[in-house]
Amino acid sequence: MRHLLNPLDFTVEETDDLLTLAMDIEHNLPKYAHVCDGKKLATLLYEPSTRTRLSFESAMLNLGGSVLGFSSADSSSAAKGESVSDTIRIISCYADIAALRHPKEGAALVAAQKSSIPVINAGDGGHQHPTQTLTDLLTIRSLKGRLDNLTIGLCGDLKFGRTVHSLINAMVRYPNIRFVLISPDELKIPSYIRENVLCANNITFTEVGNLDAAMPLLDILYMTRVQRERFFNEEDYIRLKDSYILNRKKMKLAKDDMFVLHPLPRVNEISVEVDNDPRAAYFKQAQYGVYVRMALIMTLLGVEKPC
Ligand code: NCD
Repeated sequence: MRHLLNPLDFTVEETDDLLTLAMDIEHNLPKYAHVCDGKKLATLLYEPSTRTRLSFESAMLNLGGSVLGFSSADSSSAAKGESVSDTIRIISCYADIAALRHPKEGAALVAAQKSSIPVINAGDGGHQHPTQTLTDLLTIRSLKGRLDNLTIGLCGDLKFGRTVHSLINAMVRYPNIRFVLISPDELKIPSYIRENVLCANNITFTEVGNLDAAMPLLDILYMTRVQRERFFNEEDYIRLKDSYILNRKKMKLAKDDMFVLHPLPRVNEISVEVDNDPRAAYFKQAQYGVYVRMALIMTLLGVEKPC
């Protein structure tokens, strides 16, 4: 039995196979309508979610399976003091696969150790978000036709943004990837990622504060929200929340074939005037999230690709 807790749980080859399956799903959706008939997905959300929960549910319904779960800690037995370990043992009796989001780093790992069904980490605190990364990889591969030879700008909250941490982990495995890390000083990438992931893999990267100067260099700009819920005080959040606002003027500085990604939800960091720019890919990215989660559910359940 396999889980997905960290993007590195899949090798590059396994990841490529999964993305290829997701692309086939995109083009032949009806073919997959019954491959998970009779299977159940549980979504266990201890933290708010719109896209992740609904895209998982949509994915399982598209495969012919069904879904159950809870969408806040308050509406589960966590409110009575039940541990994640106990909850997953129970859910293992009710479902065939579970997606779990939790505010604590490592919660999905703890669950996986006690689970008798595959566990998917749907976000653990400021740590990892591997299914968003699979979504991001599919989006980049579909739009750019490759996952190598790219300069990727990551902008905003690089400290608390788990999507950023997971994406860096996954992308350093492809040849000739360069990063421009754009953030205020207080929201720089954590040192464990700088040292253990970027430096350890000899990746070329710069850490800068200015988005305008970075724009012309980029093949992908990955914007992120300042993660209010992970701040220790509201004043710091208010001071930092509008550090970067991508607008039409800034887009003029970028290459014609640069794409803007964002895991969403957006707050102020991308002005709505950018939405009509053909390089704005964040809504398309959310659509890819359904195909990639369909491919992931099939892979973890060991379901064969239909002819
Ligand atoms: C992200 C998350 O939960 O980390 N959202 C998502 O799953 N698409 C990004 C965010 O909340 O800022």
